Amino acid sequence: MKNYTTLFKILVLLTVIISCESSTGKKSKIAIDKKVDSLLRLMTLEEKIGQMNQYTGFFDPTGPSPKAGSDATKYKHIEQGLVGSMLNVKSAEAVLEIQKIAVEKTRLGIPLIFALDVIHGQKTLAPVPLAESASWDLKAIEQSARNAAIESSAQGINWTFAPMVDISRDARWGRVMEGAGEDTYLGSLIATARVKGFQGDDLSAHNTIAACAKHFVAYGFAESGREYNTVDVGTSTLHNFILPPFKAAADAGVKTFMNSFNDLNGIPATANTYLQRELLKKEWNFDGFVVSDWGTIAELVAHTYAKDLEEATKMAVLAGNDMDMQSFAYVKHLANLVKDGQVDEVLVDEAAGRILKVKFELGLFNDPYKYCDLEREKEVLGNKKLHADALDIAKKSIVLLKNEGQLLPLKKEGLDILVVGELANDKTSPLGNWRVASKDGTAISVLEGLNTYTNNRISYQPGPKVFEGKPNSRDEIKINTSDRTGIKKAVNAAKNKDVVLMVLGEHGLQSGEGRSRTNLDLPGLQQELLEAVYKVNKNIVLVLMNGRPLAINWADEHLPAIVEAWQLGTQSGNAIAEVLYGDYNPSGKLTMSFPKNVGQVPIYYNHKTTGRPVLKKGKGVYWSHYSDVDNEPLYEFGFGLSYTSFSYEDIKLSTNYLSKDSAIQVSCTLKNTGNYTGKEVVQMYIQDLVGSTTRPVRELKGFEMVTLKPGESKEVSFTIDKETIQYYTVNNKWEAEPGDFKVYIGGSSNASLSASFNLAE
Ligand code: BGC
Repeated sequence: MKNYTTLFKILVLLTVIISCESSTGKKSKIAIDKKVDSLLRLMTLEEKIGQMNQYTGFFDPTGPSPKAGSDATKYKHIEQGLVGSMLNVKSAEAVLEIQKIAVEKTRLGIPLIFALDVIHGQKTLAPVPLAESASWDLKAIEQSARNAAIESSAQGINWTFAPMVDISRDARWGRVMEGAGEDTYLGSLIATARVKGFQGDDLSAHNTIAACAKHFVAYGFAESGREYNTVDVGTSTLHNFILPPFKAAADAGVKTFMNSFNDLNGIPATANTYLQRELLKKEWNFDGFVVSDWGTIAELVAHTYAKDLEEATKMAVLAGNDMDMQSFAYVKHLANLVKDGQVDEVLVDEAAGRILKVKFELGLFNDPYKYCDLEREKEVLGNKKLHADALDIAKKSIVLLKNEGQLLPLKKEGLDILVVGELANDKTSPLGNWRVASKDGTAISVLEGLNTYTNNRISYQPGPKVFEGKPNSRDEIKINTSDRTGIKKAVNAAKNKDVVLMVLGEHGLQSGEGRSRTNLDLPGLQQELLEAVYKVNKNIVLVLMNGRPLAINWADEHLPAIVEAWQLGTQSGNAIAEVLYGDYNPSGKLTMSFPKNVGQVPIYYNHKTTGRPVLKKGKGVYWSHYSDVDNEPLYEFGFGLSYTSFSYEDIKLSTNYLSKDSAIQVSCTLKNTGNYTGKEVVQMYIQDLVGSTTRPVRELKGFEMVTLKPGESKEVSFTIDKETIQYYTVNNKWEAEPGDFKVYIGGSSNASLSASFNLAE
């Protein structure tokens, strides 16, 4: 039996080698397709289905230690060649152990692909993705994903479940921390940058990993921001706002897609044939594979869409879901469905083939252990360069929301500063959510960061307890709302201080999956603490830590300075200190609108006018508005201040007439009118005045980052052509419709400098 197995493996290897021409581009694609075909021909139906099966890990770094029950079954399945991929195996040693079983014990020795949610780093954490998006720095974002790939691949990982490219307009939804915000144009560019960062130029290198565009699709539009909820959106919203970042990821060569928990217009995404087969695989020509989200095949039953797991299995396969994550569905039912003639084996070949193809592209057949070099793991994890880059993007992600009377930057000496707030001394919360492989307590806290600058006197008061117990990723975060101990002490200490730095916000585990909120205020007694301290000292700098937009009206009305510091990862405290002391002049701009209160949500800049726009507001109540608060957000999309100031002047168009084959240059002069060198994200928005469907009030269509010294100015220009203004029209096609347009340039989505042009018939 042993000899037979070895013989078989050699045969496979020979087949693989014979069909392998080591070449690049199209030729190598054909070569890989041939290898996949040869391999498929050697596989039994069960083995092919095995490739479509993914289990979560149970392996300790000291070796496989399956527990009784389902772990033992999984272990056996790996030995039998009934598993194609594992997720959540977290060290090079553990991956090595399990890969050895697949390669050495199974009949064909096909290596496993190892997945993990490497969302914003492995051990060395960058800011949470929403924060990173506020940098608008595509190169830095790409580098951040590159670094995450370098670090995670050194721990045996070759596939990340990132980037999440879901557009969301609803801050109640906890997973906004994982995306790039509310805008489709920016979201598409960031999707591309992240895919490029993870996958690099050569997927077969040992330090690049396959990326995964998720969640396909419309998960970010879950009704009322409630996690896993139903989604109902029309064709226009789906195609114009939700799908483009996925298309961008596909165009950037992303190797995998993940479908989503939600149903969309009545059909669960996992069983949606139109989305997975028609649109993704056929129209977009996506040649990688689709993995289900965790257990979503089984959830077709709970969705009331399938009567049992067997029917769910059939539906998922027919709809183009290639890999089953943790539903135990394919491995249980698919072979019988094929044997009964309910599922054509061709579909199994197609799905298994797509998965094998990615394994070939990763180079796993050449060296299944290439990601398991224990020496490399030691060298790479947490090295200096990773920390330097994490600090760089952390600074760039910070958004200055208010700075009245130039309270910031702080002087580096001679100040008596009080730091207040439990979060200021927290070394875990700033790491944010989705950090599967990192350790608690590894962030630089704000206090630590500030102390490296200290020629100032810095004292600290935690204030009242905010988070009870030890917050963890599985349970609800418990908030103290009654024990006021600590408020008085903070108030007393604040009197006579030159500045009070109040570090307030959400815990890092209060956003992320399963973390929807109906209230966007500062959790617990933090607002009370803030107001109490304000009574004795008005010189407050509020440093916000949060994974989603918060409603901070009171703070905006009363405080002189507000710094949005998100959850910035490992280097959090250092980045915040550099910004507060002016060693880095803040340049971040919000990528989600901040509401005035939760009732305004969903709130987003590229909304429609409605038939009764507020712009035409007259007397009375019959306008699209609220009685108790206006329609404007507290801080709009694209907003963010600098220690310097900028003026925008002199908008010019090269011509007012655009034809279908020509382009217009639009330009303006940006001037640094303040006292510091600063970086500005110059943004261009376009409004389509009349369309075959109603059109948004404006949409971001370009941006450029410009650094200017005090007094310096620069002409910034953008190109507008047919592609810039096309959209998914009433004809269900991407078209540029003739008519009048307005272009705006400025430092946020409220940009007022404008010009007009026309697209001729
Ligand atoms: C999430 C995915 C994630 C998967 C695996 C699911 O609960 O929705 O985004 O990749 O778990 O951890």
